[in-house]
Amino acid sequence: MRIHRQGTCLNVLAPAKLNLSLQVLGERPDGFHDLQTVMISVRVFDLLSFRPLPEQDIHLSVGDGDIGHRHSQNSFACPTDERNLIVQAARLIQSETGCNQGVAIHLQKRIPSEAGMGGGSSDAAATLVALNHLWGLDLSRERLHSLAARLGSDLNFFLDSFPIAICTGRGEKIEPARLDSLVHFVIVKPRSGLATGEVFRLWKQLSEDSGQSLNSRELNGSDHRWDQLNSPLAWSSVIQNSLQPAAESLNADVNSVLLNLSYEDGVASGMTGSGSACFGICRNARHARRVAARMQNRGIGRVWVTTSGV
Ligand code: C5P
Repeated sequence: MRIHRQGTCLNVLAPAKLNLSLQVLGERPDGFHDLQTVMISVRVFDLLSFRPLPEQDIHLSVGDGDIGHRHSQNSFACPTDERNLIVQAARLIQSETGCNQGVAIHLQKRIPSEAGMGGGSSDAAATLVALNHLWGLDLSRERLHSLAARLGSDLNFFLDSFPIAICTGRGEKIEPARLDSLVHFVIVKPRSGLATGEVFRLWKQLSEDSGQSLNSRELNGSDHRWDQLNSPLAWSSVIQNSLQPAAESLNADVNSVLLNLSYEDGVASGMTGSGSACFGICRNARHARRVAARMQNRGIGRVWVTTSGV
């Protein structure tokens, strides 16, 4: 994330992520699932601004950051009360530090909701980092990580602004990886989204129906192949997502977007997180623009052309 001070205010760009691969290894006693996932930051951003308030008030307002997408469902779907992870992050930091300062937060939402692109988690991670500065709390990186893990599984990835990382546990254990070149993406988000909890529930049901064990399995050799791949074009062999069959059953548009991407020459495609957004890795910026134009013409969802990076 990128932080910019403007007088007494802080402005933060909170990036989205894509899961290049996501393997569900099994169920955990806490009801969550053990994962191994490769996450990459992409240059689609929410914009947050933080203005100090004298009392302990936490005030969140949300605007649609998408010029030209006035009717995007984002601003309507995004709650401004305690259901929003941003408010939960601010309250948690207040209660953990005994801080009696407040904040007015304005969020311009550009990362689509229910897409598997980590928008809510990135916003909450940005809130932890920004309030640590704004309120002069001087919390250590370790402390921020432990607060982040209490709020959700994806926040830890965003805290350190790593371009790419291999994440395990619930998703909160982060090991940065190498990324030697810029990766060119086309992202397509079908009109309808998917709720993460529901996708995991169906994953469980499908695994049980097919007689698969839900106990966490050990990683096998092929799971580590990412370490040896630093060329984006080589990644096509390892793109996979255990949640894809469940996501496709719940939302037929996911399958249609993936089919459309698979028709494109030289594009490695996959679904991110629990969906419903899907991505294609293209050879270069020109190739990505051409693929994006075709996706846009087919009207299968909203389309972004972007690159890796924070
Ligand atoms: O942690 P987060 O709030 O992103 O998780 C949303 C939901 O996704 C959880 O309530 C849980 O149902 C599911 N989940 C899971 N295992 C994970 C991450 C998420 O079961 N590792």
